[in-house]
Amino acid sequence: MKSDNQVYMERFFFQPLPKVGLPLYYNISIYQEGDESIWTIIQNKTFENHKPKIFEEVFSSDFNKDGIFFATYKNKKVGIAAGIFKTTPKGNFFGVLDWVGVLKEHRGKGIGSALATEVLNYLRMKGLLYASLRTPVYRKTSIDMYKKLGFKIEFSGHRDSAIEKQIIKADSFAPTK
Ligand SMILES: CC(C)(COP(=O)(O)OP(=O)(O)OC[C@H]1O[C@@H](n2cnc3c(N)ncnc32)[C@H](O)[C@@H]1OP(=O)(O)O)[C@@H](O)C(=O)NCCC(=O)NCCS
Repeated sequence: MKSDNQVYMERFFFQPLPKVGLPLYYNISIYQEGDESIWTIIQNKTFENHKPKIFEEVFSSDFNKDGIFFATYKNKKVGIAAGIFKTTPKGNFFGVLDWVGVLKEHRGKGIGSALATEVLNYLRMKGLLYASLRTPVYRKTSIDMYKKLGFKIEFSGHRDSAIEKQIIKADSFAPTK
């Protein structure tokens, strides 16, 4: 059984974002009304260790449509990524890179990096200082990808402690009144 251990990673925007090109026939598109079903299909295929989840469940509380991105190949959706705003119990906002997933047959071509970079640009344009994420320690490919995009591991340990770390950090970076 997979453990509950996660890494918590951060990436500040004073560090310039890399320019990630896409191979021929690949593009990035933004969420359109009705994309929920294709999101769910790609999510369930790429995150095969998760219980199948529906789009509404994933985005119930933090849904901001302009932070939802797809990778397309010849206009067919083959990858997903989301920039999500979360709020700490103290009411401070922070931005999370989440749900980066690319269908197996399209991996290793820079699509995941391009999707993640698109989300980072989106969060940066929203005025955030940094982006954060949590991912299970066993997802080594994704951790490598995030490191190449400038993320640093800030914490590694039980999921609950990683969540706590993420919230403490968000509160400590919140503007003082
Ligand atoms: C993680 C994931 C999104 C990467 O997508 P991708 O399109 O293959 O990523 P890229 O081609 O941009 O590769 C980025 C880096 O990931 C790593 N990587 C990609 N494919 C790899 C492979 N087959 N083996 C080992 N490392 C690999 C490499 O470090 C690579 O950088 P490089 O090309 O400079 O060597 C994809 O593997 C996936 O959907 N995995 C399942 C879902 C998941 O784990 N999501 C992330 C957790 S939130």
